[in-house]
Amino acid sequence: MSEDSLEESRAETEPTLSDGLDRVVEKERRDFLVGVSAVAAGTLAMLAPIGAAVVSLLDPLRREKLSSEMVLVARTSAIPEDGSPRKFTVTADRTDAWAAYDDSPVGAVYLRRSGDEVRALNVVCPHAGCFVGVAKDNSRFSCPCHLSSFDLDGAVDDPTSPSPRDMDTLDVEVRNGDEVWVRFQNFLPGRAEKTPV
Ligand code: FES
Repeated sequence: MSEDSLEESRAETEPTLSDGLDRVVEKERRDFLVGVSAVAAGTLAMLAPIGAAVVSLLDPLRREKLSSEMVLVARTSAIPEDGSPRKFTVTADRTDAWAAYDDSPVGAVYLRRSGDEVRALNVVCPHAGCFVGVAKDNSRFSCPCHLSSFDLDGAVDDPTSPSPRDMDTLDVEVRNGDEVWVRFQNFLPGRAEKTPV
């Protein structure tokens, strides 16, 4: 082999300064990508619980959970004997995404008495969730928002009422002679069927 051929062969097989630089650049690029991946994974791990808390806060169905236990709402002596409705605030233990609250207001009911029997209606209008009022002469319920009208048993009494269902009845028990206990629940508005929230 001639001297020139030998030199050309060496030039092809021996590492050059350029090769070394290429390897260093490639290693740094790989290290950089590994670092970026680690930071991204760490950030996602930190954001996951924050995202869950935000979803929980924004979702009204998760935000507040009422107990399904019956709660003491009134004494029978506080309900008119003539069958006219009276409104009572309902308090109960509840929880949301952040804390538990003892005995705080969760809604309101109309109670009516007929002899020893007591009936309860949720005050929330099944149309769009306004509070239903009582007519001045106590003859019926009327919603001020879109004029749904209900008789004293909570049944829709006007065919033009926009409410898709009657007012929502609630379970009632009279205990210890005069304690009125109600299983308080809210239901989704705008539906023909009662769907508990
Ligand atoms: S919310 Fe009661 S009539 Fe619309």
